[in-house]
Amino acid sequence: MASPLFEKGKLVGTFGVRVFGRCTSCVSQTPNSRYFLQCKNQEQTSRVFLHHGPEINAAPRIRTRTVQSFYNQSAIDIAAAKPSVRLTPATILYSGKSPDGSHILRSAQYLHKELPVRIAHRVAGFRSLPFIVGCNPTILAVHELYIRAFYMLNEYPQITDFETEKGYCELLQGLLDDHKDVVTQLAAGFRECRKHIKNEELVRNFLDRTLTSRLGLRMLAEHHLGLHNDNSNGNGNFVGVINVSMKLKDVIEKWADFVRQTALHKYGKSPAIKLNGHINAVFPYIQAPLDYIIPELLKNAVRASIETHLDACEDSLPPVTITIANNDVDFIIRISDRGCGIPHQLLPHIMEYHFTTAGSSTDHRLDGGLFGQMMNEPNDGPASGPMHGFGFGLPTSRAYAEYLGGSLTLETMQGIGTDVYLRLRHIDGKFESFRI
Ligand SMILES: Nc1ncnc2c1ncn2[C@@H]1O[C@H](COP(=O)(O)OP(=O)(O)O)[C@@H](O)[C@H]1O
Ligand SMILES: [Mg+2]
Repeated sequence: MASPLFEKGKLVGTFGVRVFGRCTSCVSQTPNSRYFLQCKNQEQTSRVFLHHGPEINAAPRIRTRTVQSFYNQSAIDIAAAKPSVRLTPATILYSGKSPDGSHILRSAQYLHKELPVRIAHRVAGFRSLPFIVGCNPTILAVHELYIRAFYMLNEYPQITDFETEKGYCELLQGLLDDHKDVVTQLAAGFRECRKHIKNEELVRNFLDRTLTSRLGLRMLAEHHLGLHNDNSNGNGNFVGVINVSMKLKDVIEKWADFVRQTALHKYGKSPAIKLNGHINAVFPYIQAPLDYIIPELLKNAVRASIETHLDACEDSLPPVTITIANNDVDFIIRISDRGCGIPHQLLPHIMEYHFTTAGSSTDHRLDGGLFGQMMNEPNDGPASGPMHGFGFGLPTSRAYAEYLGGSLTLETMQGIGTDVYLRLRHIDGKFESFRI
């Protein structure tokens, strides 16, 4: 049933106001009261949430509704009971491209079914957090973001033609934008309620699951959006998010450059980053997770190299050495630094979320100074936001590596330096890799 003002799914008004679905703050069961709006003008896209009726100013009612909006979600309960259908990258890659574009419709139809189920699983994860943790306003805001995404995706009409598929792509792009800071928000939220956390294991599992599931969701959404770009942008290397002939050396060099520039900017010096091994290796892979993991590992190595050689001039800083090994089953990236290793007493903690030594130095050249800044400033690139110094680099990278069927391990020689090994399985279909 349409509201008097807006018709579901239709564009109205001068700025093109699209009514997409239901208002997530509102649990009224009256169908015409459950809309929110998305306004688009040329300069910006902004979302306006429309609450129905006069209750908007009735504070006690709103509070009840807000609580209920986390409580009475039968559609989410139903979706959360369904299993997720995960595909291998090879299935996605070789599922066939049809000249009439029907593969794009099939892909959208798969997402239309799959994404609400996965998001419902994540909402269930938020619900199972300890009460006092789940009540943290920052965590609650992310929880709400997921509930909202669920309704937007779940109530989107069946995708039967390119018109509905186009609207679905806009919806996906909007959600990718809305959720881009989720990792930072979760890091901040869990840090705020550290003192209430009794069960570290539970939080670790929640973060591992939420972060890897988010990686999978983003890869799926970006893959679908990327299908529209095939060959049309002159970049024939990509099928969706899969770079069919990825040169690992190029990806590493891009991030080595980024990390060196960041260090130079902040400290005025950076160690050289050298590359050896199978530097000519080319194979299909999904670059997005590497774009997170590689800069995180490099920043750690560069930071250790500088911090333990504060008096050294740039030329005498020990280099960071990256070795690539490639074989039929997997590829391995080893990052070796001479940053004096990780002290025995810290080693058991470095894979814990929030464990960091950033800002703990008593040396005035580091304390809240240059490194503190580098660790806290956001990257512009696709790598994480202002995460550095949150102690998320290693645990998130390890969770991603394991999600991708690989591993992240570390050998450290106290007094000398550290070797980090990132192992990832190939996705070319010869061996089982992982499922997105
Ligand atoms: N290559 C390394 N050499 C020395 N210490 C390291 C290295 N990599 C990580 N660490 C230690 O592990 C901690 C956690 O790393 P990480 O999870 O990336 O968080 P952050 O970089 O935000 O501190 C760092 O603060 C540092 O003490
Ligand atoms: Mg780090």
